Amino acid sequence: MTLDARLKAVLQLIRAASHADIGTDHAALPLALIRSCRCQNVIAVELNAGPLQLALAAVGRAGLGQQIEVRQGDGFAPVAPREIQSASLTGMGARTILGILGRAEWLPPTLILQPNAEPEALRAWAQASGYHLKQEVLAPGFWRYPVLSFEQVDGADPAYLNLPAAAALKFGPHLLRSADPHLQAELRAQERRLSALAVHGRPSVMEELRVVRDALACLLDALTPAP
Ligand SMILES: C[S@@+](CC[C@H](N)C(=O)[O-])C[C@H]1O[C@@H](n2cnc3c(N)ncnc32)[C@H](O)[C@@H]1O
Repeated sequence: MTLDARLKAVLQLIRAASHADIGTDHAALPLALIRSCRCQNVIAVELNAGPLQLALAAVGRAGLGQQIEVRQGDGFAPVAPREIQSASLTGMGARTILGILGRAEWLPPTLILQPNAEPEALRAWAQASGYHLKQEVLAPGFWRYPVLSFEQVDGADPAYLNLPAAAALKFGPHLLRSADPHLQAELRAQERRLSALAVHGRPSVMEELRVVRDALACLLDALTPAP
């Protein structure tokens, strides 16, 4: 099984002796993590019976049962504390990911999260939960999927330093600082759409437009060569 571009982007952000892939479905990511030697052992967690069978069959066919253990359960419940150094939760809604993180009794020091949308909810969770945002990319696919890598670190996250708070939370501090071209195109489209709506003067639209313009200003700053 080959990985799609979204899971390839996730793969690039994972390197750990022991890793858990939560909501593994077909176990494509665990198989690639072992084959690419990015992990020595992976726990593939799946809640539902159908995908669990898919994962078991894929791992069996690959002959990688020694390195990948498929476990059934809700989120981190089947993983013992300190059994892993990192975990991935991918291809789910941000609310589902937040629910799994919120129910966990223990979380590993590294998390790689790929929500289908609303990455700002995960960035806000991380700020309140002692995780710093270390890397973020927009992976190609049906639309651009945010892939976020977090590390457990004390103190305020320096990634957000000197950036407008709402814009950085919504669009991503690293993506803004690197003037990501896909984010730039998305922001320009949003500015056009919101500018047309703003003629009606609705406060919520005006606020959304302000955040988009703050984000565009950051991107332009990042693109301006230092004197
Ligand atoms: C849309 S699939 C994504 C599969 C894969 N992670 C990917 O990115 O392609 C989401 C999977 O998560 C599983 N899932 C949903 N909630 C879960 C939970 N609380 N614990 C474990 N697995 C869960 C679903 O059964 C499904 O197989």
